[in-house]
Amino acid sequence: MKVRKAVIPAAGLGTRVLPASKAVPKEMLPIVDKPAIQYIVEEAVKAGIEEILIITNRNKVAIEDHFDRCPELEERLLAGNKEKLYEDAVAPAKMANIFFIRQKETKGLGHAVLAAKSFVGNEPFAVLYGDDVIMGDVPATGELCEAYEKYGKGVVGIKEVPQEDISKYSSLAVEKIGDREYKVTDMIEKPAKGEEFSLFSILGRCVLPPEIFEIIENTPPGAGGEIQLTDAMKELTMREGMVGVDYLGTRYDMGNKMGMMKAIVETALKHDEIKDDFKDYLKNLKF
Ligand code: UTP
Repeated sequence: MKVRKAVIPAAGLGTRVLPASKAVPKEMLPIVDKPAIQYIVEEAVKAGIEEILIITNRNKVAIEDHFDRCPELEERLLAGNKEKLYEDAVAPAKMANIFFIRQKETKGLGHAVLAAKSFVGNEPFAVLYGDDVIMGDVPATGELCEAYEKYGKGVVGIKEVPQEDISKYSSLAVEKIGDREYKVTDMIEKPAKGEEFSLFSILGRCVLPPEIFEIIENTPPGAGGEIQLTDAMKELTMREGMVGVDYLGTRYDMGNKMGMMKAIVETALKHDEIKDDFKDYLKNLKF
C-alpha cells in the first residue's frame, strides 16, 4: 500500500538547546535561511507524501505561522518587485497539505504520535522526528516508504552511532538482508551499559502500520518516564517483524548544540548565495 501521509512530532520541550528554544520552538531555529522543520517538510514532499500532520503544543504557534500565508508581507514584496523573496516567503504555505494538532501534555514521542490516530486512519504512515534534519539527494523518507511497499512491514531508518553515544539512543538487534536493508528482531530504548544489541540505532524516521496506535495505547511509560515510540515498535517487531534501512542521507540532530552547528556550517558551504564568501571567511578565521 502506498504511503501518503506523514506525521512530524514537534511538541518536545527542547531542553538541550535552551535558552534558544525558550520562546522559539527548536524546530524553527534556522539552518542558514530556512527553519529546520521546512527541510523536513521538503523531504516528505520529495518522497511523495501528500498530507502532513505536525504535532505541536501551546508554545509552538510560530510553526503554524510559518506554513501560512502572510498577505501584508507578500504585497510589500510584490510592490517592490522582489519576486524571488516573494516566492521564498510563499513557498512554505504551498508545499503540501499541512494539518496541525496539539499534544496536550509532553508525555513522550509515543504519546505524541498517538495524537495522529484520527488523521492517519487505517493507512501506513511515515514519522519524521521534528528535530532530525536529513540532508541528501535521495529523501530518507522515500527510501523507507519503498521498503515498506516492498516488505509490507514497519520500517525504521537506522545508522550506526559511536559506542559512547548508544545509551542516548535506541539499540537494535539486526540481520542483514540486503545492501542497506536489515531484518530487525529486537530493540531497546536508551540501553544501560551492556544492554545494547548493536550500535545500530533508529535515527529520525520510520514508516508504521496503523496497528501501532493500539500498541501505543497499551504501552506503559518507559525510559525517562515517557511513553516511548521505541517500546511500541519493539512490540510491533515481536508481533510481525520490522525492517531497518540504513538510509543514504546525512542526519543532523537539531536538538543538540553540535548537531545544530554542523547542519548550519555544512549547509552554508553548499548554499549557492553564500558558499564562496563563507569558505573565504572560514579560511581566514584565526583559531
Ligand atoms: P526528544 O527526545 O529530542 O525530546 O524528542 P525533546 O523534549 O524535544 O528534547 P530535549 O531532550 O528536552 O532536549 C524527539 C522528537 O519527539 C518530539 C520532539 O519534538 C522531537 O521531534 N516529542 C518528544 C514530542 O513531540 N512530544 C514529546 O512529548 C516528546
